[in-house]
Amino acid sequence: METVFKKSKFSWEDYFSDKMKDEHRFSTEESLAKEAKEKLFHLNGRKTLLDFGCGAGDLLIYYVPHYEKIVGVDFSSSMLFEAEKKVRHHKYKNVDLILADNRTVWEKLDTKFDQITVAGVVQYLTPEQVDDFILNASAYLNEDGKISFFDIIDPKLYSLWKIGWFSQNFIHRDIFLRACTSCLKKISAFLENRPADTIGNSYSPQIIEKIARKNGFQMEYAKSMYYEYRYHAILSKIS
Ligand SMILES: C[S@@+](CC[C@H](N)C(=O)[O-])C[C@H]1O[C@@H](n2cnc3c(N)ncnc32)[C@H](O)[C@@H]1O
Repeated sequence: METVFKKSKFSWEDYFSDKMKDEHRFSTEESLAKEAKEKLFHLNGRKTLLDFGCGAGDLLIYYVPHYEKIVGVDFSSSMLFEAEKKVRHHKYKNVDLILADNRTVWEKLDTKFDQITVAGVVQYLTPEQVDDFILNASAYLNEDGKISFFDIIDPKLYSLWKIGWFSQNFIHRDIFLRACTSCLKKISAFLENRPADTIGNSYSPQIIEKIARKNGFQMEYAKSMYYEYRYHAILSKIS
């Protein structure tokens, strides 16, 4: 029986099982197109792309015209359903969508890729899962292929963002109020058996770089253009 002190384990897979939206700050076509354009700049072309954690396809749909073949992967069937609707609406024929997670995806792939992109997903993985992901992805990359982890949450910048530091109307005396609100949210999350912050885990660039190097990759750091507290880690094999 579930009580306040004995709870069933929270899982991101359960959390996303009925979700249908990708949780971008603005979901207008204009702002999604801008976000996708930023990613396409970093992806920098080539022919084949694996979009891991493609969600409802908000970004994937903008990548499609730029690639010969795209495979979108997600562990949420409701998200994939939304992605499929968008692919059908555009009559795109060069997209495959696969239901899988970070462990099972590899056995479902029958080809290597020029680019592997992971946007807004690292926060739902543990450091061990990030490590395993890079190791496995490495075997599915064509020569000179890259793994792009987009929109990783930077813990320091996220703390500043939460207290309103980047806001145009930042007022110092509000910090105390915001800190109290944050404490109350943590207590209520504990009681409801969900993470204190459904935005997920944050990782400093140093941690991601360390894991990348361990797996034979070098990391290029780029600040996110549209999220003050997020950054991109573009990994390429150390030659
Ligand atoms: C915030 S959404 C981002 C979707 C999309 N990449 C974008 O940026 O628009 C995160 C997605 O990652 C998926 N996801 C999270 N962890 C995953 C995992 N371990 N395996 C597969 N999918 C995962 C979720 O189901 C969700 O659809």
